[in-house]
Amino acid sequence: MKFGVTLILGYALGVSTALGNPKLDCSTIANDYCNLNCLPNIAGRCGSDLMVALKDGPGSDKMRCYSPSTLNDDQTKYVDGDCYCTRDEALTSLVEECEQDVETVFASGMDNAACYRIPSIIQTPDGALLAFAEQRLSDCGDNGQNNIVLRRRENRSAWGEILMVAESDGTAYSNANPAIVYDSDGKWSILLHFDTMNNPSSTRIGKNMQTWSNDGGKTWEEPVEITDFFPPASQGCMPGPALGVQNNVEGHPLNGRIYFNCHSGNAGNDHVMYWSDDMGKTWIVGEPLGSQFNECMHGLLPSSNSSVIMNCRTTAAMGRAEFFFDPELNQDGEAIFVEGLDDAGCMGSIIVREGEGGEDIVYQSNAVGPSRTHLTVKKSSDSGKTFDAGLLVWEGPSAYSMLVDTGDEIGLLLELGVKGPYEAIGYAVVG
Ligand SMILES: *[C@@H]1O[C@H](CO)[C@@H](O)[C@H](O)[C@H]1NC(C)=O
Ligand SMILES: *[C@@H]1O[C@H](CO)[C@@H](O)[C@H](O)[C@H]1NC(C)=O
Repeated sequence: MKFGVTLILGYALGVSTALGNPKLDCSTIANDYCNLNCLPNIAGRCGSDLMVALKDGPGSDKMRCYSPSTLNDDQTKYVDGDCYCTRDEALTSLVEECEQDVETVFASGMDNAACYRIPSIIQTPDGALLAFAEQRLSDCGDNGQNNIVLRRRENRSAWGEILMVAESDGTAYSNANPAIVYDSDGKWSILLHFDTMNNPSSTRIGKNMQTWSNDGGKTWEEPVEITDFFPPASQGCMPGPALGVQNNVEGHPLNGRIYFNCHSGNAGNDHVMYWSDDMGKTWIVGEPLGSQFNECMHGLLPSSNSSVIMNCRTTAAMGRAEFFFDPELNQDGEAIFVEGLDDAGCMGSIIVREGEGGEDIVYQSNAVGPSRTHLTVKKSSDSGKTFDAGLLVWEGPSAYSMLVDTGDEIGLLLELGVKGPYEAIGYAVVG
């Protein structure tokens, strides 16, 4: 543990909302703990000044909650008195969890927005990470005036300012699904799908939309409606949240095909894959997969001719479901429920990386629950048929997430917080 007397700073409650590149503020979290769990016990004899969590002094790593009256003037060191609580175990584990190096990318209050949700992330071919989210202006609800925004990080420098991708017309612009796509000349751009109403129903649906960026995400074209490409039952469906993925395998008959998936269209929750063979000019929609599958994410499996794997939210009782398709999206079989892939009834993500022996490595992130907590990344070395026990990224409240393969590392953009899962969206290196 690298926390010492530097564990001070600020008494504000909650996650830091400053723009820039803050870590989740671990000292604030530890102080909050003291104010909730020690202060009430000693306030009667020690006063109710807000407390400070510190190690208990030279030569000792034990953490305590101190009343300010026991500390030196700059509140960095214990001096004397018995106005403190010994809380080593609880504070140490809180701080260790907090110190898992999650960088805050979006947090409630940034640019005066009430809430940021539904993370999605890609890396551009020139090495910029693009973190997308819904900027929910008035509250955290699914159906307010919600914009799609992003922050860019070039070459591992700080995250840049919040940029507008699609500014809401008053409806809930939902589910940023970005894709890096190459045209036949090898020039890349970013294609992004979203819809204009969250949790639609047959009497109340939004539009399916797409927009492009040709400058690495700095600016975006006016979004164009693509609803008419969907059969009536799927109109207004919500894409992903997932990434669009393109078949880039040289010589493959389907080279250039771009795949997305969506659910909850006009006729309920039926899930469909959809794709384009002409760089997004037209879209073809596949057969419904069934209504018990909710938010899915798909990837291409290099070891099996770029066939498609899809990993879906279901209900907590069922666990996560997987589908395998051939590259033409003929479904190989029924949904598969992999042992050990628990689901808190929450969106999760997968990415596929080609292993050194040409095998498919599949990473999956999701909140393993039971409620929206314990965001965990699991790894499969057999194309998603079995997974390891995984890496716990955030034990506390955590919900939607998306993985990214930067080449050097596996990154995760995740919803997380201390009191609830929607306080911030953070980035962590997980592999
Ligand atoms: C990252 O750095 C490389 C090498 O300096 C440069 O070619 C590339 O354009 C940079 N990428 C971005 C997104 O700025
Ligand atoms: C790969 O998939 C394509 C598209 O379905 C198909 O035409 C081709 O025959 C497949 N190749 C192999 C080796 O299976």
